[in-house]
Amino acid sequence: MKIMETFFNKYLNAVKHTETILYTGYVTAVKGLMIESKGPRSMVGEICNIKISKTNKTVLAEVMGLEGSTVKLMAYSATEGIEVGCEVVASGKVLQVPVGRGLLGRVIDATGTPCDGKGNLDTSEFYPALAQAPDPMTRLPIDRRIVTGVRCIDSLLACGKGQRLGIFAGSGVGKSTLLSMIARNTNADVNVIGLIGERGREVMDFINRDLGVEGMKRSVVVVATSDTTSINRLRAAYTTTAIAEYFRDQGMDVMLMMDNLTRFAHAQREIALSTGEAPAQRGYPPSVFDMIPKLLERSGTNDKGSITAFYNVLVDGDDLDEPITDKVRGTLDGHIMLSRALAQSKHYPAIDVLKSISRLSRRVCGKETLKAVTKVSRMIAVYEENKEMILAGVYQVGANPEIDEAISKHQAIEEFLMQEEEEHCTLEDTLHKLAVLADLEVPDDEIVESPQSKRKSVAEQVQSRKKAEVADANTVAANTDLSLISKSLSK
Ligand SMILES: Nc1ncnc2c1ncn2[C@@H]1O[C@H](COP(=O)(O)OP(=O)(O)OP(=O)(O)O)[C@@H](O)[C@H]1O
Ligand SMILES: [Mg+2]
Repeated sequence: MKIMETFFNKYLNAVKHTETILYTGYVTAVKGLMIESKGPRSMVGEICNIKISKTNKTVLAEVMGLEGSTVKLMAYSATEGIEVGCEVVASGKVLQVPVGRGLLGRVIDATGTPCDGKGNLDTSEFYPALAQAPDPMTRLPIDRRIVTGVRCIDSLLACGKGQRLGIFAGSGVGKSTLLSMIARNTNADVNVIGLIGERGREVMDFINRDLGVEGMKRSVVVVATSDTTSINRLRAAYTTTAIAEYFRDQGMDVMLMMDNLTRFAHAQREIALSTGEAPAQRGYPPSVFDMIPKLLERSGTNDKGSITAFYNVLVDGDDLDEPITDKVRGTLDGHIMLSRALAQSKHYPAIDVLKSISRLSRRVCGKETLKAVTKVSRMIAVYEENKEMILAGVYQVGANPEIDEAISKHQAIEEFLMQEEEEHCTLEDTLHKLAVLADLEVPDDEIVESPQSKRKSVAEQVQSRKKAEVADANTVAANTDLSLISKSLSK
């Protein structure tokens, strides 16, 4: 009898907690991007289904605002066919993303629906698309180098696992190409790539040509092309981040890439303006500047694994002071500036080394490597400072030894920084070439993940922290016992 009771209790509990009322409403107006409905009872962020009876189709929409019994919704797909009177059914859920290893090799949209024609996803877990950033006090330190396979980055702008960087440039300077080189060559465990507001043609190019079959096997691609609705493009960024968070929670080192963040900001601008928010800086409403750090803070390390993130930022009109560029640059742990002048002279990747910075490179490089980095960077700076004089033939060789060295090494440095799209560079090769340029030697024990010291891996750090916690708990328990004993003795 007892066994039967326990058996049924599970189901009784489930029934007790199941919402049996279906909350429905009906469409009252469609105003631009916004759909208004009378009811259903819902909360902001909730997913609703709008039923088009004529075609028997359902359009997924998200609650963006509430005003009395009026619900303001935004559709994830085209609003064609929606008319006044269409039924709106609340789902009771906010946007959830399917997660699991079954996502590897797959292409999905912002709602987690596969769009690669390979059938259903082999996943059973869900993560919320909107989530909080990890607690800053539990984040593991960034002290292990990530290999990008791009010579210029791995040498002069070394990055750590869990670091977040922006790739900034105007249109057509090579942002997407650089990102695809990193995706192909990185030593991260998995890639999670969000293609947001990109051209449809570029999506297939990226999957087939840039990633290829091998790259795709360890990648998940989330797509929201420029012709999709603004809520779709906005949420695609969250979906991408949620998937990366899942793999990080499995203790993996994840490479998160977003192409591009400006389209995310544009999507939020469109949404905010249509919900009645007033524009502030250059037409961007304040909510855009609130959302950017909230999204970007979700990447990085937590207490289990790491998300290294590269966010492409399209710099409007090549103006580096435009508000989105400024906000993103201030939020991230580094910026890679691409230069149109370099691209025009066919110097690819067009990274302007002197204007770029990786804030954590000193933590992931060995001593000799840092010396070589400083020396080569200095030679680039000296050449740039005196470029006009050198090119005009005004500079007399022998007048300044530093300028002489910069001139003699200039060609070799240029060749070192330039890289064909398909060219793969190992860390060993990159650091050896850098050492030759600087006339120094980089020892082999610096060509590793954590050259500064024999630092522990993330997993080891978590393990030792847990051990310390258990030891602490035991000590507290022992101390409590001892104090009880001494109290009873003193009585
Ligand atoms: N490493 C490279 N080697 C050779 N050519 C390159 C390289 N990187 C970029 N290019 C050239 O630059 C062009 C533009 O590159 P890409 O599409 O990556 O720029 P983008 O900054 O992403 O542009 P958009 O802002 O329009 O998305 C490419 O079509 C290619 O011809
Ligand atoms: Mg691009």
